[in-house]
Amino acid sequence: MYKIGVIRGDGIGPEVVEEAVKSLKAVEACVPNLSFEFIEFPFGWKHYKQTGELVSDRSMDELGKMDCLLLGALGHPDAPQGLLEQQVLLKIRFGLDQYVNLRPIKLYPNVACPLKGKGPADIDFYVVRENTEDFYVALGGRFNGKGKEKLSLKRKLYDCEFDISFESSKKMEYGYQVGLISEQGARRVIEYAFELAEAKGKTKVTSVDKANVLTHIYSLWRKAFADVAKNYPSISTEFNYVDAITMWFVKNPEWFQVVVTPNMFGDIITDLGAMIQGGLGLAPGGNINPKGVSMFEPIHGSAPKYAGLNVADPLATILAGQLMLDHLKEGKAAKLLDSAVVELLKEGKVLPKDLGGSASTSAVGDEVSKMVNELSEE
Ligand code: IPM
Ligand code: MG
Repeated sequence: MYKIGVIRGDGIGPEVVEEAVKSLKAVEACVPNLSFEFIEFPFGWKHYKQTGELVSDRSMDELGKMDCLLLGALGHPDAPQGLLEQQVLLKIRFGLDQYVNLRPIKLYPNVACPLKGKGPADIDFYVVRENTEDFYVALGGRFNGKGKEKLSLKRKLYDCEFDISFESSKKMEYGYQVGLISEQGARRVIEYAFELAEAKGKTKVTSVDKANVLTHIYSLWRKAFADVAKNYPSISTEFNYVDAITMWFVKNPEWFQVVVTPNMFGDIITDLGAMIQGGLGLAPGGNINPKGVSMFEPIHGSAPKYAGLNVADPLATILAGQLMLDHLKEGKAAKLLDSAVVELLKEGKVLPKDLGGSASTSAVGDEVSKMVNELSEE
């Protein structure tokens, strides 16, 4: 019996989570010895307005008792920018030390791909994004003429020494943000990427950085990657600069098998990844703590415009449930749900609006559940 914490969140979150839960229940009914208890957590804008709670320490303890979490989406037009994203989503990612953000980039059959001449055989890889360090550590500040702040830096660059000081004045305001990685933090996520490659029968891991310019932070990342790679002699490796990899994702996606990247570059390239796999409607992600509580979610946001209309595509959230089953090593159940989505797409009769159909959110969830039943009888 798995205890699944369910955070429906804001906007279309509740509707898409409903369908993911529906499809997980369908799988539960077909697979022997698999059972779920779903426990609701109300976090999001409405809950915050009503109670003042974003995610309290007590709630964090409760989340920590679950086997896994399933999240819809967070963000509301009335909420101050970043509040829910930082105080709910990032708080849980950091608080539960979900240091891996796993994002499969997989083009499903019958899904329109914006890349000319590419099909499902060409787009089938994983991005493993570091999830707790880099520019997400919230180190930084802003200063202006109101205070007496001064930021002094001594730096050595291209064999010249510079003394730079930024002094607060009425005319000039400064903002700065520091990226930080630790050797241990880099190593653990890189190790996860190599283990994943072995588990999934992949033969190459690609590391992403910008070590040619951001030398301090990403030379350490490179060192960690090179060190870890030594323990996996049968897996080949390569380095890509982040700017170049965006180009190769579009031109030659078939080159990639497992891509491991620092946090912020991972944020950027996985939105691109979602597009080459046919759009945000099909892109799930997992925030993983291999020894703790992991959280699965669609990559897309809360899309307030479509909230409550029963038109959102629930497939990304259903696939987030699929990723959760895979993470729990429920291989048979994971395969069943994946095949159900493949069948739905192949048949092409019940498709959500973003995939060119006219089916409602709940109709798509019903159809996936129906496919699960049919496939399990075969
Ligand atoms: C994502 C999102 C989040 C991130 C935001 C909402 C904090 O863009 O999951 O990719 O930057 O990680
Ligand atoms: Mg993002």
